[in-house]
Amino acid sequence: AASLKGKDLLSLYDLTTEEINEILKTTETLKTMHNLGADYKPLKGKTLGMIFQKSSTRTRVSFEVAMWQLGGYALFLSSNDLQLGRGETIPDTARVLSRFLDGIMIRAYSHKDVELLAEYADIPIINGLTDYSHPCQVLADLFTIYEKKKKLAGLKLAFIGDGNNNMANSLLFGCTKVGMDIAIGAPKGYQPQQEVMEKAEVTAESSGSKITVTEDIFEAAKDADVLYTDVWTSMGQESEKKIREEAFAGYQINEDVLKVADKNVIVMHCLPAHRGEEITHDVIEGPHSVVFDEAENRLHVQKAILTLIMG
Ligand code: CP
Ligand code: NVA
Repeated sequence: AASLKGKDLLSLYDLTTEEINEILKTTETLKTMHNLGADYKPLKGKTLGMIFQKSSTRTRVSFEVAMWQLGGYALFLSSNDLQLGRGETIPDTARVLSRFLDGIMIRAYSHKDVELLAEYADIPIINGLTDYSHPCQVLADLFTIYEKKKKLAGLKLAFIGDGNNNMANSLLFGCTKVGMDIAIGAPKGYQPQQEVMEKAEVTAESSGSKITVTEDIFEAAKDADVLYTDVWTSMGQESEKKIREEAFAGYQINEDVLKVADKNVIVMHCLPAHRGEEITHDVIEGPHSVVFDEAENRLHVQKAILTLIMG
């Protein structure tokens, strides 16, 4: 079997399909055990530092609860309160924290900073979201799709919104790794970067996935098994809010978009959501929406990631 022991998790592009399947399989086992009330503590005595440069509800709580349930301990470290916030370097922080901890989860502005942390740390680094990617979220998304559809390869996911953000990037990597088709419906100027497209195309080539990028959300959503969206303005982009509201007007999952998708389509959102912007209230609260199962699965997937990497 694939072994993730001691490895970093920075981007889904770095994982093999086998490793992704191993995470999904382990998630299934751990979720079942959790629901049966089983006592399973493979991380007894292990500590995870969780560095946050940005806000978080799901990522923070799911990682912290995951560590506790697995018998370990999690430290919440706001970067403002670390010496990091006063200019201590990332390489120094990495080497010091490596002497205390068994792993670090970090949510940061710059993906480069997380790569630097990983370069200098002797312990595994898990990306809890950067400007470039959000791999743990997309692993939870793939698990949720698998739960609902009983398969992944051959399905079509349509992402409507900012095609150039962390979620779009990670979905491009994740879907192509597992043989899903992915269509990005995004306005000009907010479509995926060439670097991301090139990587995803390499993966798509070997898995047989099809990638489409279009300005036409109805073309993107046509016959989709999964409709996915995310906020128009990500954390760190607040100063562009007005420009983005104009650029993304109409890039919304609503009843009209649902009509062109497969009749059993599931609607997903990493959350937090802005009702009335990227998704309507009726759709996110409607029968196709699986957003809260998706959020719950962050916990089960986090437990799988932690067990495989730190166990
Ligand atoms: N989806 C997600 O990562 O949510 P948080 O920002 O609340 O962690
Ligand atoms: N694209 C969003 C995802 C939040 C989970 C952001 O980066 O703010």
